[in-house]
Formats: sequence, structure tokens, C-alpha cells
Amino acid sequence: MARLETEFLGVTFDNPFFIGSASPTLSGKHLQKIIDKGWGSFVVKTLSVDKNIRPDVRPRLASVRKDGTLSGLQNCELITTHHLDWWERELKPIQETGAPFVTSIMATPDLDDWAFMGRWAEEHGASIVELNVSCPHGCPEEHMGMFIGQDPQLVHDVTKAVKDEVSIPVMTKLTPNVMDITQVGKAAEKGGADALAAINTVAGIIDVDIYNATAAPFVLGKGTIAGNSGPQVRPIGLRIIAELAQSVNIPLSGIGGIDSWYNAIEYIMLGATTTQNVTAAMWYGFGIVEKWKQKTLAFMEEEGYDTIDDMVGAALDGVSSYDHLEVEDHLYPEVDDGKCLHCNRCTVACADTGGGAIKVPKINDINDEECLGCALCAVVCPVNAIEMVVRGGSRRWTRDEGPPQE
Ligand SMILES: Cc1cc2nc3c(=O)[nH]c(=O)nc-3n(C[C@H](O)[C@H](O)[C@H](O)COP(=O)(O)O)c2cc1C
Ligand code: SF4
Ligand code: SF4
Repeated sequence: MARLETEFLGVTFDNPFFIGSASPTLSGKHLQKIIDKGWGSFVVKTLSVDKNIRPDVRPRLASVRKDGTLSGLQNCELITTHHLDWWERELKPIQETGAPFVTSIMATPDLDDWAFMGRWAEEHGASIVELNVSCPHGCPEEHMGMFIGQDPQLVHDVTKAVKDEVSIPVMTKLTPNVMDITQVGKAAEKGGADALAAINTVAGIIDVDIYNATAAPFVLGKGTIAGNSGPQVRPIGLRIIAELAQSVNIPLSGIGGIDSWYNAIEYIMLGATTTQNVTAAMWYGFGIVEKWKQKTLAFMEEEGYDTIDDMVGAALDGVSSYDHLEVEDHLYPEVDDGKCLHCNRCTVACADTGGGAIKVPKINDINDEECLGCALCAVVCPVNAIEMVVRGGSRRWTRDEGPPQE
């Protein structure tokens, strides 16, 4: 019998779907709603010592959409705008529910502030403390967030400062805006991190208004390089979780562009034990988790997984270095006539940027001689009517080995 209950850092959660630290976790009222809707847990909006609290700009969000569906979000929201005494009041009723939760904290490289905030989080009910060394906007200018997360030594030092101070597990949340995530992950691990969370937002510009010659997020006519999230960043998040899973020996919490139960399982199969979601919850509301839980359970039953843990890292063996990928030079497309809509996307794509091997109108008459085996036809097909199959013998080799002699 499949079950969603997940043990992470010694704490048992009802399911692995958390709401990440962001506007959805900005007050006690929001946190209570997350509990009521059945999420596994949440990460409280990033808190800091009172001297680091600033007001937010308005507005602070911009998006790109395709046919009304979210492709990506950009935000330049800061950490909480509230002082710690306000948070003390907000968290009290949440603590009384007994629901385990994570509190996100931030500070400058002042290690005393990190230690203080770690202690504060523990004393105010957190089961785990998450270190935000990864916000890419507003904070780096104040020597916080990504300013720390881009420097492995600082990541090590702040992680150690909190670890030395608290008895709850410490999870360091990493920025994707670095050259080599494994160096930063290892530095956090060396500093005593019990887990890593990744990714925070990707620094970028989501939109340029070419009529008014300005850029997102259009804060009273001006843009700024800020944090991008949602489906557009998922490949980066998945890549980073896979790289971390292959380079550190501590558990991971996967974040970035999770838009469905399927995406959450993708993160889990690349090595994450829990997942965090922000943008989808902002776009569709907290209610999405109910379906995610049902669909995940159905998938687990169908595929024979009893626990979430059974799926953790299951796809990692499928992530190889390029040199170990196999070459099969007799791989050609095969069209399923029963599925084909005769839309001709494959023929246009192949004629213009492939080998010109699929000719209209004889869609199933593929010229293997001209086919490059690129699979462009298969990826553009809107109904997955094309499968790549081995035809006319088989020749396989790895790049290391080189092609077999004729
Ligand atoms: C509006 C907004 C505010 C955010 N604020 C925080 C924050 O205070 N602390 C933090 O660690 N991450 C913050 N994030 C980053 C998210 O926690 C998350 O890492 C990122 O959005 C990627 O996940 P997603 O694609 O599911 O949104 C924020 C993201 C958004 C969209
Ligand atoms: S695999 Fe590439 S070259 Fe071959 S038919 Fe498809 S698009 Fe054309
Ligand atoms: S893209 Fe797919 S549906 Fe369209 S013609 Fe090609 S095989 Fe048929």
C-alpha cells in the first residue's frame, strides 16, 4: 500500500509537498491555510534581525504567459517586511497546531546575527531552519542573500555559525546563479549543513516592453534584474538537484518550477527527499496539492513504489556524462498513422532544419538515407505520433569507444 508520509531530517511530514519561503508564507493567516489545505509543510517567509528589514517596492511581479498558461514569473520581492516581535505573534498559533515547519532566515556575513536568527527560529517552533543565502535581488546589495551564496567560504561560515548554535537541523538554500553548484553545496556540507535546498530564483529579466522601452518588473516605469521562477526555471532546478545529489551526502529539498505532481516526482527521482513549491501555488492557489497527492499515490501504486523514499534518486542512474551516452546510428523515426493528425509540423521542421527525410504527403515514407537521427520531428509532433526506432541493423558505441569498424 503506497503512502506519502515522508521522513526528512528526522521529522515526519504527511507528504513531501512543501510550500517554499515566499509570499505564500508571509503571515500566520497564510500558514494556517497551508496547513488546512493539506500540504506536507511550509517554509516561513525569510526573517531577519530588525535592522535588515526594508519596505517592498510596488508592484514587484511580472510574468510571461502563453495562451493564459504561466511560463514564468519574475519578482523583486524582498524578505519579510515585518519585525521579529510581529512574527512572534504570527507564529504562536501555528506552533500550537503542532504541525512541523521550517523557518527561513537571512543576515549579512555578521555571524552573530546568523547565530541569533538560528536560535530565534528554534525558540519559535521551527523543526528545521533554512538559511537563505540565495535571494538575487535587493539583498546582495546589502551583502545578504546571493552575495553570500556565491562565495563558498561565506556559505561555509554562515552554515557553521547557525549549526553551532542550534539543535534543530540546518538546511542551506542555494542560489542557481553560480558557476559551479557542487563547490557551494560541498562548502555548506562542510560547514555542517544537514540538508540543502535548491533552487532559489534565477537572476534575469523576464520581459522588455518595447513600446515604452523599459523592462520587467515595471516598478513605476523601471525594471531591475531580479528573481525568475516557475516552469521556465525547472530545467535549471532539476539539473542542480542532480548535480548536488551526485556530489554531496546530505538530503535535498528540490525547488524550481514545480507545476504538477509529475514535476515533484521528477525532483524526487533526481535525489530530492522533499519538494518546495511557490509560483504554482501563487498562480493556481493552495488547493492544487489535493490532486497532487491523489495522482502521486496512484502513480506509486501503479509503478510499485511503497514509499517516497523508494523513489528518491531513482532516475539518477539515468543521468550520465555525455561521454557515456551511447550512439545508435540506425535510429530513425516511425510514424503511428493511427495517431497522426497530418498537421505537417514534422515535415516542415525536417525539411527546413533537419535532413529533409520526411516528405509530404507520404508521411510514413521516411528516407533513412537522408535522416540525421536528430528526433526533431518527434519533439515537434503535438500528439507524440513519432517514435525513434532502430531500423536496418544496429550499431552502438560510446564516444569513448568510437564507432565499430565496418
Ligand atoms: C514572490 C516571491 C517571493 C520570494 N521570496 C522568497 C523569500 O523570502 N525567501 C526565499 O528563500 N525564497 C523566496 N522566493 C524564492 C522561492 O522560495 C523559490 O525558491 C523560487 O520561487 C523557485 O520556486 P518556484 O518556481 O516554485 O516558484 C520567492 C519567490 C517568489 C516568486
Ligand atoms: S530524425 Fe531529424 S532528420 Fe530524421 S526525419 Fe526526423 S527531423 Fe528529419
Ligand atoms: S507532426 Fe505528428 S501529427 Fe503532425 S504530421 Fe507529423 S506525425 Fe502527424
